[in-house]
Amino acid sequence: MGTIQRLDKILANMGFGSRKEVKKLIKSGAVQIDGNITTDAESKVDPEKQAIKVNGTLINYRKYVYLIMNKPQGVITATEDSRSSTVLDLIDEEYLCFDISPVGRLDKNTEGLLILTNDGEMNHSLTSPKKGVDKVYYAEVSGRVNSKDIKLFKRGITLKDGYKALPADLEIIEESDISKIKVTVREGKYHQVRRMFEAVSKKVIFLKRLSMGSLELDEDLEPGEYRELTEREIEELKSLC
Ligand code: URA
Repeated sequence: MGTIQRLDKILANMGFGSRKEVKKLIKSGAVQIDGNITTDAESKVDPEKQAIKVNGTLINYRKYVYLIMNKPQGVITATEDSRSSTVLDLIDEEYLCFDISPVGRLDKNTEGLLILTNDGEMNHSLTSPKKGVDKVYYAEVSGRVNSKDIKLFKRGITLKDGYKALPADLEIIEESDISKIKVTVREGKYHQVRRMFEAVSKKVIFLKRLSMGSLELDEDLEPGEYRELTEREIEELKSLC
């Protein structure tokens, strides 16, 4: 698919203002395409091939943005909700204008790594059960998690609704009344990790996603903070898709 789009749409997506503001900007003669001033907001432009200047400055066009967030507890993984705050409420307008959405879901009370992007193909691949991308979680679990659980998880736990989960790798960090574990799952069913532990009569009381495929949670990000992925991180994730 080509990248030819209306000039006002490109500039609005790049954060130069609302469609109305951008139209005004174009009308004022501030925008040049390949060195020629254009005042037509509906001009068709290929931003990947043509040079767009706003007030003399060349804009660095990009189609996709990729963010990594340390999702805090208490916000839901959705693009909008009438009652609760969503992860998008934490994102600046400079990125929201790209129409990003979360890659997969974390429960309201789960924290940790969440990718947000407008790259639909990457979003689909990273969450598709066919691709089986590893997702690693750290959890604190009420009840003693033991070697029997490791074997059950390895074989594929049958959840209470009868669904047989794909084999998962369970690592016990500390076996006690509140056990500390790491679990690697390759699918993302609703409440997956919580329901896997329920199936062995235990309760997850804390859950944090540590990684997704090649991407690890950046421990410098406080809960609620995010940053853009580096070129290298993007390439590594793409190689999984
Ligand atoms: N599994 C869960 O139960 N919850 C999450 O948020 C993610 C995985």
